[in-house]
Amino acid sequence: MNLSAVRSPGFVQLHHEDRAALREELAAGLLDDRASVSPKFFYDPLGSRLFDAITELREYYPTRTEAAILAAHAPEMARTLGTGRTLVDLGAGNCAKAGRLFAALQPRRYVAVDISVEFLRQALDALQREHPTIDMVGVGLDFSSHLNLPAQAGDGPHTVFYPGSSIGNFMPDKAVDFLIQVRRESQGGNLLIGVDLAKPADVLVPAYDDSLGVTAAFNLNLLNHVNDLLGSDFQVRQWQHVALFNAEASRVEMHLQARVDTTVRWPGGERRFGAGERMHTENSYKYRRADFEAMLRDAGYGTVQCWTDAESRFAVFAAT
Ligand code: AVI
Repeated sequence: MNLSAVRSPGFVQLHHEDRAALREELAAGLLDDRASVSPKFFYDPLGSRLFDAITELREYYPTRTEAAILAAHAPEMARTLGTGRTLVDLGAGNCAKAGRLFAALQPRRYVAVDISVEFLRQALDALQREHPTIDMVGVGLDFSSHLNLPAQAGDGPHTVFYPGSSIGNFMPDKAVDFLIQVRRESQGGNLLIGVDLAKPADVLVPAYDDSLGVTAAFNLNLLNHVNDLLGSDFQVRQWQHVALFNAEASRVEMHLQARVDTTVRWPGGERRFGAGERMHTENSYKYRRADFEAMLRDAGYGTVQCWTDAESRFAVFAAT
């Protein structure tokens, strides 16, 4: 075997954690009249594993529904999006979702973006062995506030893949801003995006408050992560997971509710919570198909095609 011919993925780490800024952000959220902590703080090593477990829960339909839509319609999606492009995978994780699209999309380069290249290393090495002819690059980047792809992503037009309905975790106006950045970074390319659709509360609430308590553990684990980062003294047993559907805003909200009166202290600050008081930890917006199409148009996309499952629970949009 000619080893010099075997490609290996390139890696570039652009995100560097700024602990002081994170502490400032956390303290500001805790001191707000309505206390909140950003959902990005769910994802410490245990939180990431709990999220993986969530995707396997019976009640959490989005992951498997999206996978079925992608599997059923990949060839048609490839006809809409074109083949032989660079595929940019936002929030790539274990790269499995994108890997399943390779046969249809036949990318010439695969750019896997996640907050840490360390999350990507193993998955990308394995994927490279399976697909030795595709150029692969892992990019460590926190794109939640700003998307700026590095030169290693190469020249466009790119096909950007943003699955999992993570767009639902942005406020709608921020989601449009983000889609505008995605369109700019694709350099005249396309977008393939997964979106959870509006549906009755009796399906939505169990998806975020499952019978095994995995989502409750995921939400409560945020307190441990905040303690690690901020040096605070949250006691997990004093808090309770709450998931509710806010019909007016068309979003599932997650909160942590104090079970007792308690004061949380950290170096340089403290906050008293009365029993029953809540701290907001996540919004997960659920869109109607036409509303999300309008958001794609607001972001400057022209043609939009959409595939859903038989029950219209989830949608995958291709925007060109
Ligand atoms: C990552 N994101 C799309 C998930 C969601 O459904 O909003 C996060 C999650 N929160 C609770 N369960 C899953």
